[in-house]
Amino acid sequence: MPSVIILLMSIVFTNPLLGSETEPPTLREVMRGLEKSLKKLDHGIFFEDFKLIKKSAMEIAIHPKPLGELPKILKKLGKRAPSFKGFDLKVHNAAKEMAELASKKDMFGILNKHSIMLKNCVGCHLQYRIEIASLLNN
Ligand code: HEC
Repeated sequence: MPSVIILLMSIVFTNPLLGSETEPPTLREVMRGLEKSLKKLDHGIFFEDFKLIKKSAMEIAIHPKPLGELPKILKKLGKRAPSFKGFDLKVHNAAKEMAELASKKDMFGILNKHSIMLKNCVGCHLQYRIEIASLLNN
């Protein structure tokens, strides 16, 4: 199922016939979007708003991909590309599980996945942020 979503998203982001919103976002734009969704998610947690938790966790799980910059990133990373993608996948899985736990109103389950998610957001930053930022923003 997630691969269907990813497939649909890559069609949307690469098909020039689908309107003017087809420019793929930069990695930095994707990251700023993730931070916004994370703030909404945390708000949902503090207000026990499980609908908001579910919605914002899904936004994180199916975030757009920086398709314009991705080839450059993966080329630069070479053998380390799977490790980079691994962080993204772990964020994706934890966020998706959070959305599912929100349906069950399982707050402690959500907090557990939240911690796993953050470890992988920050884990990727600690390992790759400076290198990728200087690759893309120069
Ligand atoms: C696969 C690696 C990876 C994962 C996972 C990841 N990030 Fe990032 N993030 C980056 C990189 C690389 C940059 C630097 C991008 C740049 O400066 O162009 C970045 C930068 C950022 C920034 C700073 C953007 C700016 O304007 O300078 C924020 C905020 C951010 N990430 C939030 C998040 C959040 C929230 C998550 C988890 C939900 C997350 N990131 C997960 C790789 C990752």
